[in-house]
Amino acid sequence: MSDPVSNDIDWDALRSAATEVMHKAYAPYSDFPVGAAALVDDGRVVVGCNVENASYGVTLCAECGLVSALHAGGGGRLTHFVCVDARGEVLMPCGRCRQLLFEAGGPDLLLLTVSGVRRMAEVLPDAFGPDELRAADAAREEGGR
Ligand code: THU
Repeated sequence: MSDPVSNDIDWDALRSAATEVMHKAYAPYSDFPVGAAALVDDGRVVVGCNVENASYGVTLCAECGLVSALHAGGGGRLTHFVCVDARGEVLMPCGRCRQLLFEAGGPDLLLLTVSGVRRMAEVLPDAFGPDELRAADAAREEGGR
C-alpha cells in the first residue's frame, strides 16, 4: 500500500487479533463467525466477536462487542479497525456497524477493507453523527428555544 498513514501500524497483527477472537464467536444460526479488532488512541487493542440469539433479530455484531470493550476498558477513540470472516479474510463491516464505528472513531478512522486501507469518511460518506445533534442544539440556543 502506498499510503504512508496506513503503513504506520501493524495491520497483520491487528488482523491476527481479529482472527483469534473470531474463533470465540457464538454463531450457531448463521454459521458465520466474525471477529473484529481495533487500535485505540492510547495504544490499547480492543476486540469483539458476533453473538447470535434464538430470537434472530437480537444478534450482536462483532463490532458491538468491540465498541462495548472500548468503553468498558476506559473509553478513547478508535484509530484503526479490521474485521474478518471464518477464513480470516477481511470483511466489510455492515451498514449499521459503520455507523457504530463512526461514533467511536469519526471520519478519520482507518479501516482495512476488501479494497485496501480506507478512511471511515470513504466507507460511510456524509455520515450522520454527533455533530448534527450539536448543531441542532446550537441553532435552538441561538433561536432562544
Ligand atoms: N456480522 C457481524 O458480526 N459484523 C458485520 O459487520 C457483518 C455481520 C455477523 C452478524 C451475524 O451473526 C452474522 O455475521 C451473519 O450476518
